[in-house]
Amino acid sequence: MFRMGKEEIEAVKTVIKSTDLFRINNNAREVDHFEEEWAAKIGTKYALGLTSGTAALITSLAALGIGPGDEVIVPGYTFMATASAVLSVGAIPVIVEVDETLTIDPCEIEKKITKFTKAIIPVHLNGFPCDMDRIMQLAKKYDLKIVEDACQADGGSYKGMRLGSIGDIGTFSFNYYKIISSGEGGALVTNDKLLYQRALVDLSYLCWGPI
Ligand SMILES: Cc1ncc(COP(=O)(O)O)c(C=O)c1O
Repeated sequence: MFRMGKEEIEAVKTVIKSTDLFRINNNAREVDHFEEEWAAKIGTKYALGLTSGTAALITSLAALGIGPGDEVIVPGYTFMATASAVLSVGAIPVIVEVDETLTIDPCEIEKKITKFTKAIIPVHLNGFPCDMDRIMQLAKKYDLKIVEDACQADGGSYKGMRLGSIGDIGTFSFNYYKIISSGEGGALVTNDKLLYQRALVDLSYLCWGPI
């Protein structure tokens, strides 16, 4: 369960006192601080603060250009947002069973890959890492994108790498039940500058098509 202290209270006070709550005016210095610190913590070049883990998943898929006609592989056991994010961009979630670790079974993934498959969303459920070596191998073999759902895994790691930093994009949730909470909130991380830029303008992408 999260704790809130002086530092958090001061940061919120700074924002309220500025009377400018919107990053659109380039005034979002507290969010900038958070993004710099989060990227450094997870070990990626870029982090983008968002309103929820669901928003992070949708934004990631939109940044990757995934949309109608595409299939995205998701595990059969997860929070519903993993699959509903795929539906939100107009793509089809394809369910793959989990194994005894309760994360997606890498042996089952290959059977569900079709010519329409564009991405896999491995979910590090309960902070338990997916078998990222095998998932990344499949991604390479079939030219698929990986969006890690690390919404339940803030700060976890796999073979020395932070969860969320291994695939193309990693997503996090800061809701009430999570390790870090901002009330509601989320973030995505990536090492890819173009994906970061596309994530920043994902709404215009969703409205008007590829940039
Ligand atoms: C695995 C997983 N993915 C995505 C989400 C969505 O996060 P949020 O509730 O911040 O939208 C959650 C939240 O419960 C989650 O547990």
